[in-house]
Amino acid sequence: MTQLPGLLDTEAIRKDFPVLDRVVHDGKKLVYLDNAATSQKPRQVLDALNEYYERYNANVHRGVHVLAEEATALYEGARDKVAEFVNAPSRDEVIFTKNASESLNLVANMLGWADEPYRVDHETEIVITEMEHHSNIVPWQLLAQRTGAKLKWFGLTDDGRLDLSNIDEIITEKTKIVSFVLVSNILGTVNPVEAIVRRAQEVGALVCVDASQAAPHMPLDVQALQADFVAFTGHKMCGPTGIGVLWGRQELLEDLPPFLGGGEMIETVSMHSSTYAPAPHKFEAGTPPIAQAVGLGAAIDYLQAIGMEKILAHEHALTQYAVERLAQVPDLRIIGPTTAEDRGAAISFTLGDIHPHDVGQVLDEQGIAVRVGHHCARPVCLRYGIPATTRASFYLYSTPAEIDALVDGLEHVRNFFG
Ligand code: ALA
Repeated sequence: MTQLPGLLDTEAIRKDFPVLDRVVHDGKKLVYLDNAATSQKPRQVLDALNEYYERYNANVHRGVHVLAEEATALYEGARDKVAEFVNAPSRDEVIFTKNASESLNLVANMLGWADEPYRVDHETEIVITEMEHHSNIVPWQLLAQRTGAKLKWFGLTDDGRLDLSNIDEIITEKTKIVSFVLVSNILGTVNPVEAIVRRAQEVGALVCVDASQAAPHMPLDVQALQADFVAFTGHKMCGPTGIGVLWGRQELLEDLPPFLGGGEMIETVSMHSSTYAPAPHKFEAGTPPIAQAVGLGAAIDYLQAIGMEKILAHEHALTQYAVERLAQVPDLRIIGPTTAEDRGAAISFTLGDIHPHDVGQVLDEQGIAVRVGHHCARPVCLRYGIPATTRASFYLYSTPAEIDALVDGLEHVRNFFG
């Protein structure tokens, strides 16, 4: 068995993930390499969800009975865990949403309805990048269409990195918000936050970071990032679906208007007008995803018990191994950085002129789960002149043997298509 320095004890870790024992297609052992789409869930998270429904289920912040108080304590306890996980200065800066898309839409709508100095209007500019997931493109397009603001973006270099050569022309005195991804879901690139934040701060623009592919894989410190908003989702980091996070700087959350109205987010309501609860509740209208937040809290406990630095080192070693092995596959072209430096554990590639959907199907027949398509980042495919890619993505339970299985599987794909 291949041993690499820095690997975690995957034999022990994999015992926590029941689904990894599955066999598919008549006895093929599952090789799950679609972690950038969603991660698998450890028993500890499944147990926390079950326990919540079996013992505590009640609505939060409303009841005076025991269950309501316990459910509220669990939900708010999950907020504490998230705050600590991202090193937030205050727990009140953590807003629970449905997913990262909702978090990013929330930021766009806050700014769209805001008063000066935050308001985005026809005299201002919004900056994104060409490597964004659709969830960090479409909300800004909608905002630009609604307000008349100009949407600008950083392009990409041939090796899959942001082209910041014209940063002073892209981010200008007119820029109100710069929103960009920390780790690309399709290219795997880790972006240079510092340079972008420095320029944004020079012109007084706000910064929003999409950390969906970073939070599961590396230590995330919102204070070190120096951003104003950071969005991520629970289901890619061992948590359940239906729970996302928006972290925002406290004074901004105090000043900015709510997006969704309803129960929970108010202070008082009359037939004529309403006043709002302080953040984070101002931004959490309606019954929140209570069980899902509890599940995310359990996921954070699980990841922290292993250690985010160790998870990062494990994935870095795997990624290094994977790029070396994939380089040996004839006709394989990695779309994105071809070395493990400054890249995450999602690797997209094309294989000669075999369509990625065919690659994915033949791999699936061998039990290997990858994602194919444009990965909700179609502008990246357009930039590199390809219709789609095949993407393999690793997590804390992935092993070198699974990368070997992928490489063998790709050899089989090549033989299959002659
Ligand atoms: N954003 C997820 C992915 O990249 C769904 O696959």
